[in-house]
Amino acid sequence: MAIRNLRYDSDEILRKRSKEIEEIDNKIRELALDMIDTMYKNDGVGLAAPQVGILKRIIVYDIGEGPVVVINPVITKKSGMQTCEEGCLSSPNVFGTVDRPRELILEGFDIDGNKIKIKAKDLEAVVICHETDHLDGKLFLDIARDIYELSQEEIDEIKKENEEKEKSKSKKNKKKSKK
Ligand code: NI
Repeated sequence: MAIRNLRYDSDEILRKRSKEIEEIDNKIRELALDMIDTMYKNDGVGLAAPQVGILKRIIVYDIGEGPVVVINPVITKKSGMQTCEEGCLSSPNVFGTVDRPRELILEGFDIDGNKIKIKAKDLEAVVICHETDHLDGKLFLDIARDIYELSQEEIDEIKKENEEKEKSKSKKNKKKSKK
């Protein structure tokens, strides 16, 4: 496993459509594991392959329940609406408000090639929308409002506060979510 380099902001690879994966081989499995490592290393809750420079339809995420890999993900059903604050590992320190479905169904394949169907709501639904958008060359900033940027010092401060809170409370994390 390895940490891969992230692609940022105006990198044009982030604007391209990723291709369907035809065969889930060892190279794809290695990519998935590297993406999970890269996501954790950068304190993200989700990551899409174009963010590490690979135009293939694969996303990973972890909303605190362990890592999930979805290959060729397709949202087959959406319902409800929620408003949330999002960030993105490809636009560090930039946040904005986005409307997303409250619940959805995601279909795709796991790294063993098994067909999977995920019923997601709340944060998981947000992350899935954000990451699958990346596969179509869309960024949350395209649809976000009230966009603001924090300095690294402010981010570190928030992280520190959250760590303190986590220590005093339970293990439940409340950190800024970057996808
Ligand atoms: Ni993102």
